[in-house]
Amino acid sequence: MSISRKKLHILVTLGPTWEFIDPIRFITNRATGILGYFIAQEGLRRGHRVTCVAGPSALCPLPGARWMNVVGAEEMRRAVQVIFPKVDALVMSAAVSDYRVKKPFLSKLKRRGRSFPLFLEENPDILDGVSRGKGGRVLVGFALETENLIKSALKKLKEKKLDLIIANLVSGDKDPFGNRKVDVHFLWKDGRQRFYVDISKSQLAKVLLDAVEDLALTRISER
Ligand code: CTP
Repeated sequence: MSISRKKLHILVTLGPTWEFIDPIRFITNRATGILGYFIAQEGLRRGHRVTCVAGPSALCPLPGARWMNVVGAEEMRRAVQVIFPKVDALVMSAAVSDYRVKKPFLSKLKRRGRSFPLFLEENPDILDGVSRGKGGRVLVGFALETENLIKSALKKLKEKKLDLIIANLVSGDKDPFGNRKVDVHFLWKDGRQRFYVDISKSQLAKVLLDAVEDLALTRISER
């Protein structure tokens, strides 16, 4: 097998996470998981081994992939930590809740006829947790921002020790959630940047996989 055709093991996280308030209600976000699903599908199509860690969504497990369903950010973190040492690349497309309810109610919260505070505490950063033991693995993250897109994305690229970050703006008519076309910036650690306008998520999955394969190939030739 030529070096350029090396088959990789790729871990893809996708979807939102749920952080429970009580056994019935939770805090979440608008992520659908569709981009991560397309990335995993494209990975399989290219002959790579794919493991998915999926937050709650309407998506069914992808045939051919190892598929793990998780609910909260902490559960996703634990799953990623176990699988990460075995993979060549992590594509962290999940929209992880940054906060969880400090003390979720054990039974259904009843109407109280008054307002009351809900205390939130920070969830750990999953990428940050694995980046320390990164070794030669390829790390790809995403940045969804409502302002200062490039500046915030570059900060995350550096702080989370990523090889590549895909930056996406949510503002006015720019609504990237679900299966629709998006404008995205690819920002690499080595300073390269590329802007894709009005690209479908299935096409985005293809260019992202090209980038992951290139990065993995560079790692192999550096060894
Ligand atoms: N991420 C993560 N663990 C978290 C939160 C986010 O690994 N607890 C990952 C996401 O999967 C994404 C990247 O970090 O690939 C950026 O996520 P984002 O929510 O945009 O950024 P945060 O680091 O949470 O920063 P902020 O919400 O303050 O913008």
